[in-house]
Formats: sequence, structure tokens, C-alpha cells
Amino acid sequence: MKNIYPNIFKYNKNNLSKAKIILKKNGIAAVPTETVYGLAGNAYSDKSIIKIYKLKKRPKKNPLIIHYHSISMLKKDAYIDKNFFKLYKKFSPGPLTYILKKKEKSKISSLANSNLNSIAVRFPKNIATKNLLKQLKFPLAIPSANISSSVSPVKATDVFDEFGKKISFILDGGKSKIGLESTVVSLYGKIRILRPGAIGHVKIGKVLKKKLSILKKTKKLESPGLLKKHYSPGIPIKLNCKKPDDKAAFIVFGKKYKKGKNIFNLSYSKNLNIAAKNLYKTLRKIKKLGYKKINIVKIPNKEIGIAINDRLKRAAY
Ligand code: TXA
Ligand code: MG
Repeated sequence: MKNIYPNIFKYNKNNLSKAKIILKKNGIAAVPTETVYGLAGNAYSDKSIIKIYKLKKRPKKNPLIIHYHSISMLKKDAYIDKNFFKLYKKFSPGPLTYILKKKEKSKISSLANSNLNSIAVRFPKNIATKNLLKQLKFPLAIPSANISSSVSPVKATDVFDEFGKKISFILDGGKSKIGLESTVVSLYGKIRILRPGAIGHVKIGKVLKKKLSILKKTKKLESPGLLKKHYSPGIPIKLNCKKPDDKAAFIVFGKKYKKGKNIFNLSYSKNLNIAAKNLYKTLRKIKKLGYKKINIVKIPNKEIGIAINDRLKRAAY
């Protein structure tokens, strides 16, 4: 039988070496992380970064997150302080991205951080990508592996759906455990949350002994990725619905909703973490089934529900 996914490679030692070779040659490989799948390229290489922006059709003013295995390598590229260490100790490796001041001598391609004075950095937990980073002498710029403004991929075949054979290598490390992009916390200037995620602002605030705000609107686009329209499945979404409109796919939460062909339940047990994990998968599935519109019930705005609602609001914009 013909392999319909000729560019998907299961995580093992041999395939990790193949990914390494591609990245060392400034090529691009899709990699798994615990949040979502990403498109990885050498963060020190302009050539790799240009490829990433082209593939994603991403506006150049939207900077990428730089992924590291260790603090020792990060120290060459960014200034770190007490607050960083406190959060790092508690949440890294994991789904937390820090905005830090970039060092003048850093080798990070200025294209990767849109020429800003800051860089976004993260230490992913997924074993495949963690090991990959450990074996490289440079950090990886890894944005989510989707065409700009569409839904992020949470498994290897989702990446294939986005890019087909336009990328030569997709490292399959199983389904993303969390299913939503990392929390972005700015430690550069005023400390605050730029993008909500699995690690909530309350937890972060507790560690820093500080009440944190979540960025809503700014004059200047402070986290340029926080574009109003984003995470969109490409069909209209209506939020806070009680009943579905005619012919709409209906996304629900909790067991009070009956089953049906057009009913998609994010979590029968009203577990917000499960709902987060199912969200992008469900949006992709509904689109594939050919529905022309999506209705969704109200999702509780607490814990990771805050991140779910953030993504839904942008998807519906
Ligand atoms: O979970 C994640 O963070 C995933 C996985 C693959 O690691 N990556 C991801 O990357 O979501 P991306 O490129 O889709 O989103 C990066 C976000 C954007 O909102 C971008 O604007 C913001 O981080 N960002 C990057 N550098 C920044 C900077 N220097 N200052 C403020 N925001 C920044
Ligand atoms: Mg993204």
C-alpha cells in the first residue's frame, strides 16, 4: 500500500537524527510539543527563519518563540532575573513562554523576533523535541505548525493537512497533551500575561506574589500574534449559544446535551483540561465534515477556560 503520509516519521533515535540533519542544514522540520505541533528552524539562521515565515504565510512583524533545552544556552541570548528563575523552577519545562530582554550580542536572527528588543522563549516538555534540542548547538524557533490565522495542529496528520508535502519532515510524537498554545508572560517591562494558556494568571501571580493582568487591547500591537482574527477554522463561529441554528455544528460542554450527528461534546464530565485538548481537534473535524457554520455553548471562564475563550473569541472574529 502506498504511504499517504510519506513525510511523517515516528519519534525514535534514527528519525531524531534525520530531523537533526535537516535542522543543521537550515531546513525546516515539524515537531511535536505538549501544547501544539510546531514548525522548527535554526533560530540563529536568517535562512531558516525566512523559510518559516514563507511556509506559514506569517506577517513579518509577528515574532516567533525561541525554544531551548537549557538555561545555559539561553543566557547567551537573553537577560534573566529573579522573576524568571522563580517561574522557571515551577513551570519549565512546560507550557509557559517568557518575554525577556534580548542581549545585544545574541546570535538570534533579528528576523525571528521582528527586530524587537525582546525575545519570547520557551522550554518544551515533550520528550521528542526536548531531546532534539538537547542534541543541537542552537535553539529552535518554533511557531505553531499552521498557516497563519488558522487552527493550530495537535497531531502529526494535522500538520500534513496544513502543509502536505511542502515540508519534508514531520516528527510524530503522538497527540499534544494540552492542545492549546503556551501561556505568554511578559517579564520585560510591566509583568503581565500576553496570551492565556494552560498555566493560568492566578498560578503565575502566586509564584511572583503579584496580581497579574491579562493584556486586552493595546495601542501598539504588543504581542503581535494576538491578532484579532486567529485560530480560525475558516467557517463562521457563534459563541454562547443555547441551541444550535439550522444546519450548524453544535459544540457543547457537559452531559446535559443529548447526542446527535451535529453535536460535538468537548467534555461530558465538564473537565476544562479535556475540553482544551479537544477544541482544535473538534474544529478541524467539523470543517472536514463540511459544515458551513459552528455554534458553541458558553464555556466557563476560569482556569484553562480563559484560554479556551480567548481562542474562541479570535476564531469567531
Ligand atoms: O505553545 C506554543 O507556544 C507553540 C509551540 C509550538 O511551542 N508555539 C506558538 O508559537 O504558539 P506562535 O508563533 O504561534 O505564537 C507565538 C506568540 C505570538 O502571539 C507572538 O506574537 C508572541 O508569541 N511573541 C513572540 N515574540 C514576542 C515578543 N518578543 N514580544 C511579545 N510577544 C511575542
Ligand atoms: Mg500560532
